[in-house]
This record gives sequence, C-alpha cells and structure tokens, in this order.
Amino acid sequence: MPSAWIEAGFSIAAAQVRGKELVVWRSPDGQVQVWDDRCPHRSVRFSLGQVVGDRLSCAYHGWQFQAGDGRCAGIPAHPQMLPPREACARTWPALEAAGMIWVRLDDADVPPPGDDALPGSWHFCRSLALARPVATLLPSLSRLGWHACAPAAWASPDDHLRAFALEAGLDWCMLHVWTRATAGSAAMQRDHADLRALRTAIETSGQEH
Ligand code: FES
Repeated sequence: MPSAWIEAGFSIAAAQVRGKELVVWRSPDGQVQVWDDRCPHRSVRFSLGQVVGDRLSCAYHGWQFQAGDGRCAGIPAHPQMLPPREACARTWPALEAAGMIWVRLDDADVPPPGDDALPGSWHFCRSLALARPVATLLPSLSRLGWHACAPAAWASPDDHLRAFALEAGLDWCMLHVWTRATAGSAAMQRDHADLRALRTAIETSGQEH
C-alpha cells in the first residue's frame, strides 16, 4: 500500500504514487481524502483548488466535490442546476498509519504497517527522493545493513532511523525517514548527514558493474 508523508496540519496537497498524480486533502471530520488530481469537468488539477467545508472546490469554474464519494455537489455559477451524475472525482481508499497517509491503488498493495512500526515518540526526519526504481532500493538498503522491522518498514543498522519506501514512478522512489532524535537536536543533524550519505550510497550502488 503506497504511502505519502504530508506535513501535519495540511488541508490540501499534491502527491504522486507510481506515476499517478493525486490530490490529498482532509475534510472537516478529520478523514483523509485521496483522489485523482484532475477535475472531471475540464481536467484542471484539483490540488490548485481549495477546501470549502466538506467539499473540494476546483480552482477553475469552482465546481464543488464532496468528501467521501467525490460527487459534484454544487456549481456556484448555476446554483439551481442539478450537477450531472457523471461529474464525479475518482476517489481512492486511504488511511493514516505510522504517521503517514496510505492509499490503496489496487488489490496487490500490501497493507500499511501496524503501530509497532513506528513508536509514538519518534519524529519525522525527512523524505529522500531517489533516482532508483523501488525494486532496487530495498536490496540496496539490505546491503547497507538496514533490515525489515515490520511490513513496509525498514530500520537502520542501529535502529535509530525507520524508513518507509514509496514507488513514486517507474524510475524513482521516495524514502520517508523517521528518527528517535528530537527536532533541532545535534542527533537530528547527524541523521540528516547520514541520510545524505545514504542517498549517495544508494544512487551509486550498482554503477560500478
Ligand atoms: S475544470 Fe474544474 S470546475 Fe471546471
């Protein structure tokens, strides 16, 4: 089940999973909504729009689509008009786990990790965009001493860092990394340096062959 980390307190954001462009937004009841990032009216990106109550309002003509089923619920320029039935956003099942948002794009997606994958006291460190297919990332992590600690979760050799891998596109992926260190601490700065070195090690591994 691919994941995305999005800053706490967000209301709307663009994301990309396996090359698919998505919009992620939170409705007032706290539920995360993940939709195709295209308005069904004229294909403008939903992520340019805004959240209005429990609806996502498109930036172009202002059509409003409701949380949950994604149906068009209002056309401000024609308030008396019944929205066409086919005016419906493509929605995807999503949930939050281990501090991240997980979306199910097909039945082959593995379930998100349980609470044990990320203890509550850990902090988000950073996301790494890596010029590597996700299929080659996991063997690289293994070679560098990382190990699987829970479904979809990887731990650094000293278990100071935990990482979740996301297939963002055919030839690139994201690694979302969490740490035991507190924000702004010297330990967090060391984590950032370690992750820069990790990126180099991953992106150069295999190039010598
Ligand atoms: S393109 Fe979205 S309302 Fe027209």
